[in-house]
Amino acid sequence: MLAPMVELSHRPLRELIAGFGGCDRYYTEMCGAPAYVSDAPYDQWFLDTQPCPERTAIQFNSPDAERMAAAVRKLLIDRSGQGLALGGIDINFGCSAPLIEKAGGGVFWMKHPEAAAAMVASVRKLIPGIVLSVKMRLGYEESGEALLAFCRGLVDAGADYLILHPRLKDQKFKRLGKWEYVASLAQDLSVPVIGNGDIRDYASYSKAVGRYGAAGAMIGREAVRRPWIFALLRAQERDPGYRMQAAVEDTGIHMLKLIRAYLPPSFHLSRARRFFFYYCDNLSFSHHLRYAIQNAPDLQAIETLFKEYFDEVPKDRVIEQG
Ligand SMILES: Cc1cc2nc3c(=O)[nH]c(=O)nc-3n(C[C@H](O)[C@H](O)[C@H](O)COP(=O)(O)O)c2cc1C
Repeated sequence: MLAPMVELSHRPLRELIAGFGGCDRYYTEMCGAPAYVSDAPYDQWFLDTQPCPERTAIQFNSPDAERMAAAVRKLLIDRSGQGLALGGIDINFGCSAPLIEKAGGGVFWMKHPEAAAAMVASVRKLIPGIVLSVKMRLGYEESGEALLAFCRGLVDAGADYLILHPRLKDQKFKRLGKWEYVASLAQDLSVPVIGNGDIRDYASYSKAVGRYGAAGAMIGREAVRRPWIFALLRAQERDPGYRMQAAVEDTGIHMLKLIRAYLPPSFHLSRARRFFFYYCDNLSFSHHLRYAIQNAPDLQAIETLFKEYFDEVPKDRVIEQG
């Protein structure tokens, strides 16, 4: 599954991944329920589920249950008009960005297990036939018991599956997530548990679903660095020794085209910068280019910088990856 990531999990990234054969399920970046119910201007872009609407879950975040329910009701009305299938709704109990958490959204819900379960139950009632998932972290303090009780509440409230990013609220990416919590939830809960965090290759993917028993794996940053990662994992599942030729230059240029085609102009620069921040990891000498792209004035300038890099380092145009 593709993880929800602000300014990254948009239609262009899904199109890019779909071009490599896709993944099983995609998540949109989180959409603020309060903004959506008050008709904020950009929600049509956050809620765009193309090119795979039937396999794309929309993630909502809300500081209160009322506006979460109102957003889901509004989505059902908007979607019925468009005749688009809804691949699922996800509730965000994991975001630890200070603005979101302080407002009472994201991971803050993990402090209030009963209220969190009640919100899940109220959404469940509104969408009896639509997949409902919840994405969360470990919470504020490490406690297997508290985590299990929290998750049981969500399952009893009707969540179809849970996604665990096993880091505490304030844990950054530097240290690896604690996957033993994925393993214990997978064992103790009656619904599938998806593991998320630090999956970068076939070894970490197979550990997630093998050793830790996750029902599936959700991939975030690595799917931006290597939009072909799902294709690579599928091939390596058949043949662990498989190596892939990745067209790094063409894929980057194609992403710029997709950003132009499917996002409003006011999004272009920020989304391209975000994408290339990760994508430059594929290059042998990424430091200077990454910095230059972060300071480029527009998409054309990014394209020029990117192409010039390969004139200087042609061997990076296509790289072999395992
Ligand atoms: C730039 C960025 C934005 C993110 N935005 C969201 C979000 O909107 N909703 C969410 O649940 N998680 C969000 N996350 C967390 C990811 O979904 C994921 O849990 C995290 O990156 C760990 O997975 P990874 O190691 O595969 O990247 C974000 C992460 C990043 C790096």
